[in-house]
Order: sequence, then C-alpha cells, then structure tokens
Amino acid sequence: MSKKIGILTSGGDCAGLNAVMRAVVFRARLLGWTVIGIQNGTAGLLERPARVRELKPEDFDGFMMRRGGTILGTTNSGDPFNYSMPDGSRKDRTDEIISAIKELGIEALVGIGGDGSFDILSRLAKKGGISMVGVPKTIDNDLAMTDMSVGFDTAVGIATEALDRLQPTAASHDRAMILEVMGRDAGHIALNAGIAGGADVILIPEIPYSIDKIAEKILDVKKGGRNFALIIVSEAVKSPDGEKREVVYTGGETRYGGIGQFLAPQIAEATGFESRATVLGHVQRGAEPTHNDRLLAQALGVKAVDLIDEGAFGQMVAWQNRAAVAVPIEQAIAKCRVVDPKDPLIHTARSLGVSFGD
Ligand code: F6P
Repeated sequence: MSKKIGILTSGGDCAGLNAVMRAVVFRARLLGWTVIGIQNGTAGLLERPARVRELKPEDFDGFMMRRGGTILGTTNSGDPFNYSMPDGSRKDRTDEIISAIKELGIEALVGIGGDGSFDILSRLAKKGGISMVGVPKTIDNDLAMTDMSVGFDTAVGIATEALDRLQPTAASHDRAMILEVMGRDAGHIALNAGIAGGADVILIPEIPYSIDKIAEKILDVKKGGRNFALIIVSEAVKSPDGEKREVVYTGGETRYGGIGQFLAPQIAEATGFESRATVLGHVQRGAEPTHNDRLLAQALGVKAVDLIDEGAFGQMVAWQNRAAVAVPIEQAIAKCRVVDPKDPLIHTARSLGVSFGD
C-alpha cells in the first residue's frame, strides 16, 4: 500500500489552486504516494465520515490547470481552535481533526494557504504530531520569505486590465476614475497594477496621503492638457483622518471596502474632474491563472512533495530568485509582508511622476 498525502486549500480562494493540486498529484504518483483531497479546508475533517476523496492524475484533465477557484472548496472562517458552535458557544475542535487525519492514514499534509491558515495548520501540526508542508497562496502577496505567492500575478493582471478598461471611458467623459483593489493590509496589488496600468496616483496603506497632494497631481495632469486621470487605491487605505473604511457582513464579520467611494466626491471637488469609483472586489480572485501563476503553482507543488518524500516538515515552500526553496513556516508567518517604502517599484513609480498622495 502506498503512503498517503492529504491536501487541503484554506483561506480565500485565488487563481492557481487547482494547478498546485495537479502538480502535487502528478509528482506524488511518480514518487509512489497516494493523494487524499480534503474538502473545505479543515472543515472537511470535522465531519463524519470525513469529507475526503482520492485525487488521481486522471482527475486532472486538460481543464484543471486553467480552472480558477479550488475543486476542494475552502473557507476563511471557522478556526478549529475556537470554533463557533450553532448555539453561539466556542469550542476547541482540533482533536476531531487530528483523529480524522490519523484514521485516514494520512502521513503528511500539504496545506495550501496564507498566513492565517498557516498559523492554524502549524499549531494543529504541533499539537497532533502531524507532518506538514505549506504552499503559499494569496492575492495579497503578504507572506514573508517568498517573492511571490500563488494567485498574486493573476490578481495584478485583472486589476491592470480594469485600468485598461477605465482609461477609455475616463477619457471619453473627462473624468478622474478611481479603482479600489483588494490586498488586505498590503498595497502590493495597487502598486503593481498601478504601474502596469499607468495610474497617475497610487494610494497604498503603507504611505500616508492627503487630498491636497492627490489634487496637486491631478491638476498637474490637467494643466498638461490631459482630460482624464486614473487613481488606484488599496482597500485598506484609511480616510485622511485615519478612519478604516469597512463593510459589515452578516454575523458581524467585517472586511475592508469603501475607500474609493469615499474619495470620489473629495477628488471631484478638489480637481473639478467628475469622479467615479469602481470596486473590483472578488473579480480579482476568480479567473484562469496567468502563465506566471501556473509556473509558480507547479514549481511549488513539486517542491512540496519532494520535501515530504525527504521527510522535511514544518516548512513552507517559497519562491526565491527563480527557484522553489524551503523556509521554516514560522518565519513565513512571523510578520505580514507589507510594501516596503524603499521597494524598487516605489522608486520606479515616483521616477515616472506617479504620485502616492504624499
Ligand atoms: O485575503 C484575500 C482577500 O481577497 C483580501 O484581499 C480581501 O480583503 C479578503 O480576502 C476578502 O475576504 P472575503 O472573501 O471573505 O470577502
């Protein structure tokens, strides 16, 4: 009987998750491992029978590498250490997950996740003596120790395309268009897409701004004879007086959102441009992965299985200097990798005359 790898996706979905799974399944077959797919992150291991199914290379037809989302499903709520029960109480349900892994005969676990998921999975691994390897995915690209996480390149491509689409309508109507993008507390998506899409102003949570400085840049654009302006703003950018812009969802959960709409009238007033805000939202996550995300997904998926085969656990596979390497998972989640104001791309943008509103 071959040894078993369990695999799950956890946290918000993004493009490239199925491509990681495909690489894990292909590599595992070559090394003599069987792969068990766990549904809906750790939630699949709280059910009895556990919601799992074997994943075989034959399951990964021609579409799978291209397909967005995750065929296993995922969740970004439901911490098993502090699980919210139907009666409103909280319960530690990690023993149920650990026993399911043991009963299924899973010898090693591949967790495809971001910082929140890795925090939970590594504590779970420690508690249950589970051998685990992490594969980084997040459109926010905020995991430390890796140049790139799966899903980021696709999200940047979509945000860039959104600016491409806003430009002609902005020019047709003499408008200042604001594009609000995701990224949680890190401004990587706005910075990258802003440069690639030719934004005049890039607002990221890492750089404080003022309406006056934004207006200065836009009026300068106007003076130069251009009849439109493009502004990209990260969802976590606060209002000038430091207030978070958030949306409250059912159950009281909050998510960033609303800064674009908040800024639009102020920019209009300060510049004389009519201004409209577009919130890109989850469109940034649901797409066919770009070729870069497919390459990354497969390099990291292969490396994850190689580490398991070598018996190297507690690691996250990372992309550094065009190679898949292993880094201790604790180091990857020790801090959120926000944009460094000294990032070379900030220099590039400023050198092109892009304003950060500062
Ligand atoms: O972490 C990925 C992400 O898409 C963030 O950029 C965003 O703030 C958040 O998840 C949205 O979460 P949800 O899918 O729960 O609305």
